[in-house]
Amino acid sequence: MALIEVSNLKKSYGKLDVLKQITFDVNKNDVVAVIGPSGSGKSTMLRSLIHLEEIDGGSICISGEYLVRDGIYSKPQEIKRITSKMGMVFQHFNLFPHLTVKENLELAPRLVKKELNAEIERRSKELLEKIGLSDWATAYPGKLSGGQKQRVAIARALMMNPEILLFDEPTSALDPELTGEVLQVMKQLAEEHMTMIVVTHEMGFAKEVANRVIFMDNGEIIESGHPTELFTNPKFERTKAFLKRSLK
Ligand SMILES: Nc1ncnc2c1ncn2[C@@H]1O[C@H](COP(=O)(O)OP(=O)(O)O)[C@@H](O)[C@H]1O
Ligand SMILES: [Mg+2]
Repeated sequence: MALIEVSNLKKSYGKLDVLKQITFDVNKNDVVAVIGPSGSGKSTMLRSLIHLEEIDGGSICISGEYLVRDGIYSKPQEIKRITSKMGMVFQHFNLFPHLTVKENLELAPRLVKKELNAEIERRSKELLEKIGLSDWATAYPGKLSGGQKQRVAIARALMMNPEILLFDEPTSALDPELTGEVLQVMKQLAEEHMTMIVVTHEMGFAKEVANRVIFMDNGEIIESGHPTELFTNPKFERTKAFLKRSLK
């Protein structure tokens, strides 16, 4: 059984069909890179998985539980439980500016109130070490570089022990010299077998780290495959044209 099963996912904004019958699976430990031109529906697809967007048809099943089945959503409580298996990292970090780095990490687990504070603090300390920002625990996000902010956002997502991490262009808002440190953290997560879906323009990362690439265009999955195969031997004209533009 796949960890994520998406079938015939449809989404429209008014007359605009943004996702047209999208179907794909993600297995445990997969690192899936999603590429494609701006406006092709990548963000909408990713946001649908975690219920930041409601879809108009199709099914999304996360480790055997339906978030939505044939267009019918599960009960709110179920939705909450199912989406809590996933963490998301956004292009613009979305850190809380009035909270310190440590407080940003600890906020969600404290609100959920399932764990002792000592356990939450132990994990935030461990994750700050992991991303190399132990010295910044009491700093406010405004003092951090973009790369540091995004590393904090990743650590914050990890605080909830997600089974799956979703990334929406995590390095697109960064100066080129800061993308490396963020990609490095993501690469490490991949090596630790975190299941990840990464919408990205970083073709180098997709080639090196992903075990599958999905190419989307105009609300459809045009093709998907192993990066070596898809990058060197794309089957469709649209994929070829996109890669030609992106790999320059
Ligand atoms: N809230 C919205 N209302 C109307 N149209 C939207 C909305 N969000 C996205 N769109 C449109 O949906 C299409 C796909 O957007 P998006 O998923 O953001 O694509 P991508 O992430 O691949 O750039 C675009 O044409 C975009 O303008
Ligand atoms: Mg997008």
